[in-house]
Amino acid sequence: MTTTWRTSAMALDAQDPLASFKEAFDLPQGVIYLNGNSLGPLPRAACERAEQVIRQEWGQGLVRSWNSAGWFDAPLRLGRMLAGLLGVDPDETLVADATGINLYKAAAAALALRPGRRTVVMEGSNFPTNNYVVQGLLESLGGGYRLHFAEKDELADAIDAIDADVAAIILTHVHYKTGHRLDMAGLTKKAHAAGALAIWDLCHSAGVIPVALNAVGVDFAVGCTYKYLNGGPGSPAFIFAARRHHAAMRQPLSGWWGHAMPFAFERDFRLAEGIARMQTGTQPMLSLLAAEAGITLALQADPRLAAAKAGALGDLFIEGMDGLAADHGFALISPRLAQERGGHVAYGHPHGYAIMKALIARGVIGDFRAPDVLRFGFSPLYLSYGDVVSAVHRIAETMQRQEWRNPAFQAQDKVT
Ligand SMILES: Cc1ncc(COP(=O)(O)O)c(C=O)c1O
Repeated sequence: MTTTWRTSAMALDAQDPLASFKEAFDLPQGVIYLNGNSLGPLPRAACERAEQVIRQEWGQGLVRSWNSAGWFDAPLRLGRMLAGLLGVDPDETLVADATGINLYKAAAAALALRPGRRTVVMEGSNFPTNNYVVQGLLESLGGGYRLHFAEKDELADAIDAIDADVAAIILTHVHYKTGHRLDMAGLTKKAHAAGALAIWDLCHSAGVIPVALNAVGVDFAVGCTYKYLNGGPGSPAFIFAARRHHAAMRQPLSGWWGHAMPFAFERDFRLAEGIARMQTGTQPMLSLLAAEAGITLALQADPRLAAAKAGALGDLFIEGMDGLAADHGFALISPRLAQERGGHVAYGHPHGYAIMKALIARGVIGDFRAPDVLRFGFSPLYLSYGDVVSAVHRIAETMQRQEWRNPAFQAQDKVT
């Protein structure tokens, strides 16, 4: 690692139009946080918002806050906020429930819109909860549904091969492990040409790479707010349904928040109009409202600048790691080209788990995904180019000193 490398990183920081966003986050001293692809850090405004919600809205407003503080409408309000970032209309999305639950609702709605078709196409290696949720849904539907798993380069052919029977493709835009980005426009078009609907998981896209769902005709989408949107641990997810489906779509978790008149307390379910029917029940308000702070920050950053910076930070990291790869056995798993990745960069290493623990002990926080993958996330709002140089420097020292051999780093924690 040369001094020139650090100097050029400092020059990039000096011109970075997003540099001031770092101040908006409360990051621990000495930590280089490369794990916003798992859990975004704490926005300072989230503390203020959480305190306001707890002390004022809950403490003083009590039950009145469902009206006076707009709690009941918060899922739709946060959805309206997110709309621009997703490239959809304000009444096509809402924030509620977990990603998996929203996927269940979206997938069920899509299958009901394609009666007679029995095949769902997914990328088998995508985040397993998506597979589990769809497997659970298909099992509960009975009636011979089939899940066809294909990997990245086989997806287009898979859709062609089973066209007349394919009801939906359910794909994750950016792969949670490798970071590869699928061709959302191309695969959605292929699905539509086959008469199928396209559902996308945007967990690793929203807030870090450009998303324009309506421009490419996506039917349904889901995604979390706790990664690049910095919403907080377990903050509720979003769900999008294209307006053309609103009148006909139904989802099976038909709770009172998706009822046409929740406070009429009618015996039987009657569908709410529009995206509101994708709701089920009472939301975790503390978490939902704290997430507003992170979402607000993401909206303040120009998405094109954010994506360009995330790509450039990842490129700089890969450049630095190229110098270490041969000597220390790291194998780049993610695409080298920024436009083919999401916001994180992954490396394989046979001692990946122990190495990540050693790095965390040194203040470089990434994470590990079995069996051997180290993930490093490059969120554009709080990382500097200098941080990337320092991280590579610390990785080099950790490897040179073989710190990962320490027995304390060998035992696997529950959460990796
Ligand atoms: C692509 C993807 N989908 C879904 C999830 C998790 O969904 P849930 O919010 O239901 O836990 C993750 C979690 O990291 C993910 O990476």
